[in-house]
Amino acid sequence: MATYSLPELPYDYSSLEPVISGEIIELHHDKHHAAYVKGANDTLEQLAEARETDQWSAINGLEKSLAFHLSGHILHSIYWRNMSGDGGGEPLEKDGTGQLADAIAESFGGFARFQAQMTKAAATTQGSG
Ligand SMILES: [Fe+2]
Repeated sequence: MATYSLPELPYDYSSLEPVISGEIIELHHDKHHAAYVKGANDTLEQLAEARETDQWSAINGLEKSLAFHLSGHILHSIYWRNMSGDGGGEPLEKDGTGQLADAIAESFGGFARFQAQMTKAAATTQGSG
């Protein structure tokens, strides 16, 4: 049976300071993310046992648990790779703006409009993790 594992951070805990403290990165990686991985693997074991014993009374809760823990694992994995101590801000011509800048311009009408929508969405959307 496939299992999930906690990925290594692509940088040190303190690499994103002062924007995000090393303590917060450590908490999210070593506690939150690790708990999602453990929860997904524990749920997979319970689902395997349900299949082996043909006992399905808990199937709804197990499927919800797997979706919850896997989404936490996937979202945290994306989160780690989307940040860097050298990143941030508007893609500029001098940086070789590329496909991301083109997509932002096409989809949002410019970086300022993208940033305004993302900021509002991030502040008002309920999420896990
Ligand atoms: Fe987290």
